[in-house]
Amino acid sequence: MKLISKISIGLATSSFLIFVGCSTAQPTISEESLGLRKVDLYSEDKVIPDETKYSKAAPSTSKTIDRAFQDAPPMIPHDVDGMLPITVNNNQCISCHTPGVAESFGALPYPKSHTINFRPDTSLTKNGDIVKNGKIVKNTSTEKMDYVTINEMHKLSNSRFNCSQCHAPQSEGELVGNTFTPDYTSKDGAKKSSWTGTSLTEGLDTLME
Ligand code: HEC
Ligand code: HEC
Repeated sequence: MKLISKISIGLATSSFLIFVGCSTAQPTISEESLGLRKVDLYSEDKVIPDETKYSKAAPSTSKTIDRAFQDAPPMIPHDVDGMLPITVNNNQCISCHTPGVAESFGALPYPKSHTINFRPDTSLTKNGDIVKNGKIVKNTSTEKMDYVTINEMHKLSNSRFNCSQCHAPQSEGELVGNTFTPDYTSKDGAKKSSWTGTSLTEGLDTLME
């Protein structure tokens, strides 16, 4: 009995000492570990950013990159050298990604959403009133339903012409690890958009012909 209580007192004292020891030691954080730069804060010239390495694989030889989440705009997996910037007279993306042509290159055609104009017809009256879809809109920040439109163009909508506004090439550099795992709502969500003409217009009463 005596022995047991001596041992327990001993244990209690040593854990107390360990506890005190831990709480008094000041944790140190090195400057090198503070950010992504990996060098101390005084050595600007030693900061070497990770190299940007876009894919050099030509279209039809690259491997598509899994989508970041369901219906995310896919990253461009192939070389875009000589294709950017996109101009009014030079949009090479269309020459390979237009439905009907894309399949022969082994590329996905741009999806249904890209042939829909979500923008209302907008004009100004002589008096300076804003007209959206035939209705005078006094306050464009509140009368939202008056200027929502879903207009099937049967061709690429001008609002999608500048592909690189949403689709970007992916650098292969490894600056920061990524532990995010997407939870796709459709079975082939990693490789394919699930948006269809119907799911885009469901529940909306502003459909135009
Ligand atoms: C010469 C034909 C060609 C041109 C030009 C081209 N692409 Fe591609 N693109 C492809 C092919 C083929 C693939 C499929 C991957 C592969 O086989 O390399 C692809 C894949 C893609 C993907 C990935 C789609 C997915 O399934 O994840 C995107 C996004 C893309 N291209 C966008 C563009 C953009 C934007 C441009 C213009 C800057 C462009 N492409 C120009 C042929 C082309
Ligand atoms: C305003 C942003 C935007 C622009 C501009 C845009 N895209 Fe997209 N793109 C998206 C989004 C978002 C998706 C995925 C969801 C969907 O289907 O709309 C997508 C999907 C795609 C896909 C995958 C289709 C599939 O079936 O999975 C291709 C290919 C593509 N776009 C090509 C293009 C090309 C080529 C252009 C230029 C002519 C272009 N996009 C312009 C946003 C854009």
